[in-house]
Amino acid sequence: MLKIALDGPSGAGKSTLAKEIAKRLGITYLDTGALYRTVGLAAKLQGVDPADADQVGKMLSVITVRVELENGSQVVYLDGEPVGDRIRTPEMSMYASRVSAIPAVRAFLLDTQRDFARRNPVIMDGRDIGTVILPDADVKFYVTVDPTERARRRLNELLAKGIETTLDEVLADMKARDLADSTRAVAPAVKAPDAIELDNTGDFDETVERALSIIRERTK
Ligand code: DC
Repeated sequence: MLKIALDGPSGAGKSTLAKEIAKRLGITYLDTGALYRTVGLAAKLQGVDPADADQVGKMLSVITVRVELENGSQVVYLDGEPVGDRIRTPEMSMYASRVSAIPAVRAFLLDTQRDFARRNPVIMDGRDIGTVILPDADVKFYVTVDPTERARRRLNELLAKGIETTLDEVLADMKARDLADSTRAVAPAVKAPDAIELDNTGDFDETVERALSIIRERTK
């Protein structure tokens, strides 16, 4: 079963890239961030502090998180209910970021991710796919983007949502978050030693073509 890992920092355009590669190869795309967001949603619904490892740990023993393929797309269920767009708010980004630093949460979601890869040829995007979840992936990518370009994209997203900010503010914020993500004790967002760096600064179609040719080369 084909397994491709695609890791990298937030705002590097991983999901757009992974979706396109999945489409071109006729394989499945799994957005693993959605699983952390779902645990975040559970904490919110149960009034649990997402930074409290004890409380979150107790919550994990009473919730179920499942991911299914429906018409080729992933649907995540929390306690039997599809989570839908409820996990896509800025508040849930914050909740997901907090719970994702708790070792018990990472352990809780490990089998879900590995089982999915066992059942489906897949490209998974995340932070620790190549290092922890699928260390035996056929191809591992680590996506990078020039920091200023990444900040510019993020700034446009925020302005489109009506959030007033500046490029300098966004750059500073991103640097702080990258540092926290790459130095955290649990599953830091780092490049696997055998991952191939994929620069996603330039033309999107060219990046996709570059990825596809690397995949063909590595899997022939
Ligand atoms: O990719 P995203 O923004 O949906 O991820 C939400 C949060 O979950 C983000 O703070 C990073 C974390 N995450 C993680 O720790 N490991 C993953 N494999 C995917 C996401």
